[in-house]
Amino acid sequence: MPLPVVRLSPCRADDLEPLEAWAPTGNSRTHAARFARQQAGTSTYFLAVAPDLADGFVGSAEIRWDGNANPEVPRCPEVNGLQVWPEELQSHGIGTAMLALLEQEAHARDHAELGLGVDSAGPLPLYLRLGYVDAGVRYLDRYTWIDEDHRQHHVAEPRRWLIKHLEARR
Ligand SMILES: CC(C)(COP(=O)(O)OP(=O)(O)OC[C@H]1O[C@@H](n2cnc3c(N)ncnc32)[C@H](O)[C@@H]1OP(=O)(O)O)[C@@H](O)C(=O)NCCC(=O)NCCS
Repeated sequence: MPLPVVRLSPCRADDLEPLEAWAPTGNSRTHAARFARQQAGTSTYFLAVAPDLADGFVGSAEIRWDGNANPEVPRCPEVNGLQVWPEELQSHGIGTAMLALLEQEAHARDHAELGLGVDSAGPLPLYLRLGYVDAGVRYLDRYTWIDEDHRQHHVAEPRRWLIKHLEARR
């Protein structure tokens, strides 16, 4: 089945309100945090549309050009927070198409590798199928989310680090 036509564009300040309506992050304000990192120059927060499938956003992903801050993780740009949303749009090839475009973005900036952290369940088989390899690095992904009463929740989730060698596919 051919992949859907997907376009990525960097987040703009005007996108923040519609983004929060599309995929609410509440008091965690995750979209705004990613946009702030983009404004600081350490990442690009990419928003995806797929006009043949849906109006509005269908996915989002950040490339952190400064990589994953964990000391165990090798230095290379990281795909962070890849998601396809709403849920009924998942499994239509949008995530695959987004990753191909993210890889092009990294390659265009002369990066030879792109990495991402994944837990043992979930989409690991998808990434392996798309040429990502297990680098043998295990680490804890630590982050904080904020609930509706403004309480902070500190989380540490085990991840395995996958890498794709971008030059190998050309
Ligand atoms: C993971 C995700 C970005 C993939 O995007 P997508 O558009 O659904 O992916 P594609 O349609 O290109 O590929 C789908 C394939 O990925 C694999 N896959 C995706 N999610 C999976 C999961 N939770 N468990 C196992 N396999 C999964 C399956 O092989 C699936 O094929 P199938 O639909 O025939 O079962 C999307 O499913 C998503 O947003 N999931 C929730 C958030 C998430 O897990 N993000 C990843 C963080 S590392």
